[in-house]
Amino acid sequence: MKQIRIEEAMKFRHPEIVVLVVTKSKEGKIDVTPIGWAMLGSSNPKTWAVGIAKRHYSHKAILDTKEFTLCIPSYKQRKDVLFCGSVSGWDVGKLPKTKLKILPSKKISVPLLEDSLACFECKLIDQMVTSDHTIFLGEIVAAYISGEDEGLINLGSRNLVKTKRGLEDNDFKEISNQKKVQ
Ligand SMILES: Cc1cc2nc3c(=O)[nH]c(=O)nc-3n(C[C@H](O)[C@H](O)[C@H](O)COP(=O)(O)O)c2cc1C
Repeated sequence: MKQIRIEEAMKFRHPEIVVLVVTKSKEGKIDVTPIGWAMLGSSNPKTWAVGIAKRHYSHKAILDTKEFTLCIPSYKQRKDVLFCGSVSGWDVGKLPKTKLKILPSKKISVPLLEDSLACFECKLIDQMVTSDHTIFLGEIVAAYISGEDEGLINLGSRNLVKTKRGLEDNDFKEISNQKKVQ
């Protein structure tokens, strides 16, 4: 093995998932932020864990409201994913500058993003400060799919490429045929 700078070796973690974390501030401003540091946190209850830098607008919104939605973007949302990751809610209202469309959630006040592969309503149940980031643990209280089936993955350096959703066709048909949860 050849020893190299830690930052260089860490690039080998890619490909990396990308999710969109949607927040709504106390003042009602909706923010959309792409996050690569996302994973399932537990299976009972079902949770998402997301690592968000303390300086981000979305970080303050989650601390204030204890809610967020997590949407898995479709490939057709890729330009908006990159845009939302290049500007901060501290400086601009991102949503009107994108093609992203919102839909109301059922159990929390933060909206869903239409045309995402899947969206999850999450209520904050725990958090861990990791120096310059916080890992927020959100309990999933509702989940949705759109029927879109082309997702994306980050190969590194924000190079987002197309993926097929991870479900087999039969699984997808089975889910689509399930009675909608009211
Ligand atoms: C593909 C991609 C992945 C990202 N992953 C993270 C991440 O895991 N954590 C994080 O804090 N920021 C991440 N960012 C950066 C934020 O999305 C970006 O700084 C954003 O502008 C913050 O917006 P906000 O201040 O409105 O919350 C990522 C950006 C992109 C494009």
